[in-house]
Amino acid sequence: MNQDIVKRLDPLPPQSKLIIFGGGFSGQRIASVGRSLGVKVLCSRRQKDSKGADFTFNSDTELSNEIFEGATHVLSCIPPLFSGEDPVLLQLKNQLLNSKTLKWVGYLSTTGVYGDTKGEWVNENTSPNPQQKRSIRRLSCEKQWLETKLPVQILRLPGIYGPGRSAFDSLLNGTTKMIDKPGQVFSRIHVDDIAGSVLFLINLYSQGKNPMVVNIADNLPTNNLDVIAFAAKIAKTSLPSTVPFEIAKKTMSPMALSFWQENRKVDNKLLCNKLGYSLIYPDFKSGLKNCFSKLNIK
Ligand SMILES: NC(=O)c1ccc[n+]([C@@H]2O[C@H](COP(=O)([O-])OP(=O)(O)OC[C@H]3O[C@@H](n4cnc5c(N)ncnc54)[C@H](OP(=O)(O)O)[C@@H]3O)[C@@H](O)[C@H]2O)c1
Repeated sequence: MNQDIVKRLDPLPPQSKLIIFGGGFSGQRIASVGRSLGVKVLCSRRQKDSKGADFTFNSDTELSNEIFEGATHVLSCIPPLFSGEDPVLLQLKNQLLNSKTLKWVGYLSTTGVYGDTKGEWVNENTSPNPQQKRSIRRLSCEKQWLETKLPVQILRLPGIYGPGRSAFDSLLNGTTKMIDKPGQVFSRIHVDDIAGSVLFLINLYSQGKNPMVVNIADNLPTNNLDVIAFAAKIAKTSLPSTVPFEIAKKTMSPMALSFWQENRKVDNKLLCNKLGYSLIYPDFKSGLKNCFSKLNIK
């Protein structure tokens, strides 16, 4: 329910206009909560008939200036191109630089830029040390955004989950893999807390509380087996047997393998303690209960 999120947030100034590039899973949720706060929001997708496409934007096409008229806030949720370039900056850097109305520019990045810390905590003061090619590209895009000298805020996210993208999907279609890698944890964030914290940070930014980088993560980095076991318990479904990582890795896609090769815990003290954001779903248990409540099980 948007109202549960909205009641935690202050309204944005009247006439706020937020342009979201990349209305995928997070982008759509942020757009929806933004609209419930009374903000004018326009969201891009690559195909005009995609759900929630207010306008189309693809990194290889031009965009009319009209979209930017009166835009006060811009958020990019689009990953880097394989070339390492940022799709939005590649096409629209001059339009952004020429804007007289922009007060905040957000960039959804990933905590992958911290690299592998062998299970240690990372915070915003930890030097990025990306090891995966996609994380190297990501850090390069962060730099490209910061170099514009626009009022940019980099928001680093761990694994995103929420209704329609959670442990229940694979559990209920029988594709769950119980991979056992002792000591391995993943941080995560519920999509409602991405939406809530983005709109919370936009407000703080205008009050001069404007850190350049903020991690958006929940309180409890956890082993994947615990997450799946909890989901199975509330869905009252059985669990497949566990497979040791050393065996599972032989049939993993390179992408999946790259996630399992990094182990870190993401600290959220800047967001939650210093800046004062109150998580709606502080851990995977509360978040999964919400996902389960949205499942359409007959
Ligand atoms: N998923 C995760 O667990 C995770 C974790 C950390 C960070 N992130 C990053 O956080 C951001 C939001 O994640 P998400 O999972 O909400 O994203 P998502 O659902 O995959 O949505 C990505 C959006 O980017 C658009 N897009 C992709 N390539 C594009 C291009 N070349 N030109 C124009 N638009 C393009 C997509 O367009 P269409 O709508 O047309 O498909 C989509 O709207 C992404 O940058 C993602 O990489 C994700």
